Amino acid sequence: MITANLENLFAHKIGKNGISQETEHEFAQERVRVGEAVAKNISHGAYGFVNSVKHQSLKSISDYLAENKWIKSMVVIGIGGSDLGGRAIRQALASEAKTQHPHINVLFHGDSPDPADIDWLLDRIAPTNTVFNIVSKSGGTVETMIQYALFKQKMQKLKSKNWQRHFVFTTDPDEGALHKEAKLHKIKTFSIPEDVGGRYSVLTHVGLLPAMALGLDAHAMLEGARDSIKKFLEQPVNSIPMLVSWAQYLLYSQGIKTSVIMPYSARLNEFGQWYRQLWAESLGKEGKGILPIFAKGPADQHSQLQFYTQGELMSSFWFVNIANHDTNHTLGEVDIAGLEYLSGKDFAGLLNVEHQATAESLANAGRPNATITLDKLDPYTLGELFMNFELAVVCLGEFMGVNVFDQPGVEDSKQRIYAMLGRQ
Ligand code: PA5
Repeated sequence: MITANLENLFAHKIGKNGISQETEHEFAQERVRVGEAVAKNISHGAYGFVNSVKHQSLKSISDYLAENKWIKSMVVIGIGGSDLGGRAIRQALASEAKTQHPHINVLFHGDSPDPADIDWLLDRIAPTNTVFNIVSKSGGTVETMIQYALFKQKMQKLKSKNWQRHFVFTTDPDEGALHKEAKLHKIKTFSIPEDVGGRYSVLTHVGLLPAMALGLDAHAMLEGARDSIKKFLEQPVNSIPMLVSWAQYLLYSQGIKTSVIMPYSARLNEFGQWYRQLWAESLGKEGKGILPIFAKGPADQHSQLQFYTQGELMSSFWFVNIANHDTNHTLGEVDIAGLEYLSGKDFAGLLNVEHQATAESLANAGRPNATITLDKLDPYTLGELFMNFELAVVCLGEFMGVNVFDQPGVEDSKQRIYAMLGRQ
């Protein structure tokens, strides 16, 4: 279960930088309008990422994994939305994946075409028991395709016949170079629904194939996401996505144009990166947007917090924490001079105290901050987390009047790269 504590966003708690009662009243009607509009769109099937979660079947993935027990490593090669969600899943649920026997070692390698990184990867895999999962919605992104071309050449050299079984594609069902390549060489392909863009694709085969290769419970992840859609539809105006988006929009209208996401668990750092893409690519257009910044709790208390509490006021702060950690370490009596106060203290408790202290410091300095709490971190709550933030960004787009599903700025740079490399 996920809960949101937004107290420290309001003027009555943190003073004049918080959301004032006047602003709340001014936008009360807007909150109802946006809630109703998004709920209506969901009911009419207007959002591909919601439809796909509702109807997603996992059978083709479980069949593929059952038929290919020889796979010991899966290298996932994709970038941006074809990469960050899978990474977030693996990091958040790594401890759970470890308990699965036998599980596949899943490596993510799409985000850098740096030659040194290719060496790093080649040192870590045994090609004969590796499958390369090439993930690209467009089937053309150069960082991904250049790696596919390289690994194809390497595998063809190693195995003139049957090299194809070392590849699986996750791509558009009808278009793109990968789609054509799959047809030509009969390469196993999983589809990304035509109306689901990269940054909304974590709960399609893009994220679910790596998740199931790790042995994770993808059904539970989908259930968490589906329950979040249900909860939103029951009470759009008071749902978590609405509260997050409304608060961020009100702060935006008061001049706070960046939002810092700061998880207080190392298991959620990749989730923070996923959020960063979701917010930036969905909202940053037409001269508008809330710039997302990622910070690590508690490490960035010792790096960024000085600015956050006393520098120029430009952000709201969004902590994500876990109420009940899967594991913990508790100290006995500490007999180190000056450190006796640590006796009986535990690590989960320390994270909790650090989060509370940071939230208090920020509030005390008049800096708006909020906390999203997961009762525990498991596939179900991770599914909830993804869906709540996807719905929140859709609501924010509705508040701000921007299309959250395109990314013309990204496409422009892609076209320039293709032109420079001589692609027709
Ligand atoms: O969210 C998006 O649309 C982008 O970040 C894409 O995911 C990214 O550019 C990769 O594109 P593709 O999946 O087509 O290779």
